[in-house]
Amino acid sequence: MTEADAVFQSYGRCCKSPRFLEDFYENFMASSDAIKERFKDTDMSSQYHLLRSGLLWMILRARGMSDTKLKDLGESHNRNGYNIPPQWYDLWLEALLKTVAAHDEEYTSALAGQWRSVMLPGIEMIRSRY
Ligand code: HEM
Repeated sequence: MTEADAVFQSYGRCCKSPRFLEDFYENFMASSDAIKERFKDTDMSSQYHLLRSGLLWMILRARGMSDTKLKDLGESHNRNGYNIPPQWYDLWLEALLKTVAAHDEEYTSALAGQWRSVMLPGIEMIRSRY
């Protein structure tokens, strides 16, 4: 199985866990008050759905899907959009890994490494558009 396939399956298991996305945002917002502040006016129940697709695009891109969706996220998150500093994506990834560890019952440290290497190119694509 390729790395991207292993992560795709892990993501499927996480999505069966009802609090996965909620926990992700809880972990992510706990990593910085400045990040928490950015979501103060956000309708979080819509945001959970949006991130569910966003994560899927990140994984599908690693499995060969086109970059278009991630380029759009690069635009919406850049200095003219939500103005997300590039270093915040490291906190995003750590919060994601922490949440996956708690929700995927087949989690291993090897799988964590696979998540990292599948997510990083997509993250680079988004934050390089800052
Ligand atoms: C690779 C990592 C990320 C992915 C896949 C992602 C995905 C998304 C998606 C799909 C949306 C909705 C579509 C859009 O508005 O373009 C969104 C909105 C947003 N994202 Fe991200 N995001 C990421 C990283 C971050 C980071 C690091 C922050 C830092 C705070 C952030 C803050 C926001 C905000 C503030 C919104 C708008 C919320 C609102 O509408 O009120 N995102 N993100």
